Amino acid sequence: MSLVCLSDFEAYAKKHLPKVTWEYLAAGADDSCTRDDNLRAYKRIRLRPCLLHDVSMIDTKTTILGTEISFPVGIAPTGFHRLAWPSGELSTAKAAEAMNTCYIASTYATCSMEEIVAAAPGGFRWFQLYIHRQRSASVQLVRRAEALGFQAVVLTVDVPYPGKRRDDIRNNFQLPQHMSVKNFEGIFEDQDRSEYGLPANSMEPNLSWEDVRWLQGLTHLPIVLKGILTKEDTELAVRHGVQGIIVSNHGGRQLDGVPASIDALVEIKEAVRDKVEIYLDGGVRTGTDVLKALALGAKCVFIGRPALWGLTYKGEEGLQELLQILKDEFRLSMALTGCRNVSEIGRHLVQFPRL
Ligand SMILES: Cc1cc2nc3c(=O)[nH]c(=O)nc-3n(C[C@H](O)[C@H](O)[C@H](O)COP(=O)(O)O)c2cc1C
Repeated sequence: MSLVCLSDFEAYAKKHLPKVTWEYLAAGADDSCTRDDNLRAYKRIRLRPCLLHDVSMIDTKTTILGTEISFPVGIAPTGFHRLAWPSGELSTAKAAEAMNTCYIASTYATCSMEEIVAAAPGGFRWFQLYIHRQRSASVQLVRRAEALGFQAVVLTVDVPYPGKRRDDIRNNFQLPQHMSVKNFEGIFEDQDRSEYGLPANSMEPNLSWEDVRWLQGLTHLPIVLKGILTKEDTELAVRHGVQGIIVSNHGGRQLDGVPASIDALVEIKEAVRDKVEIYLDGGVRTGTDVLKALALGAKCVFIGRPALWGLTYKGEEGLQELLQILKDEFRLSMALTGCRNVSEIGRHLVQFPRL
């Protein structure tokens, strides 16, 4: 079978995963308006190609926080990769390493961060942090990530409480018995578990900007805030001295009704100018989506669900194949818009049709 675009991988995953797992991956919050808009919003944006530019040589490379990656697409943090493929995050790490791009490993990985690093020792990785009520657990995670060579801490700020995902409630979604959140081994033992295999109500709901300072005092690693959607929060992020932000609505799984991330990017870019690096996730499915996000000011984008579809197809190999397709599509979209390298991708390439 030949899969030629990301939606082919989606169809494969839908067909082959157990229904409950598929619905967990696909879920949005409430009516899933934001999840669906994340995809539709790209289709509303039109491209303005610059022709006769000699595009015989195309360079897709870029840097994020000073590290070179082979193209501006990384892997967003998602939990529980063993639901998609038996070796889970180990395969994700190997695929990202093979494609020379960034993998943001989730706090809620089903392989520990030590196992992930051992599986792909040369990989470029950031660690995604959820801060829990038991602060010492978060301190321990950050220290381990630092010691293992993760190059940034990505603090997810849009989950004071998990969003309401109806299918997970209907299905009584549970992490299977033989899987666990491996990073927490020895930390949250002997406590009641929630459906996700974590201690019930463990997420810290009283986080504030003070905690960004707290985290800065804890680590020398750069800090990236994930989940920013407004210019006001962007300005606060800049004022608090973080190094990057990920414009994200958590794939539409948290607050339903917020804008598509590509739409939010526009006001955020205006607020931030070049003071911090801006990245984006949510609904990126084609090479032209990547190009549009870069044209509107993102330095790099990250894929969430598609990485899990790639793993479902053929583990490490499947994810590598999916990333290669996205890279090829991105290269082609650069060529067809007249861009020879990523610095030539700019606001002039896109237009929003009047509604
Ligand atoms: C199944 C699933 C699990 C996720 N787990 C996490 C997580 O552990 N930490 C986090 O910061 N974001 C998590 N996210 C959000 C993703 O990082 C990302 O924001 C989102 O998936 C991007 O949208 P996309 O799936 O349309 O690419 C998860 C998303 C999905 C679909």
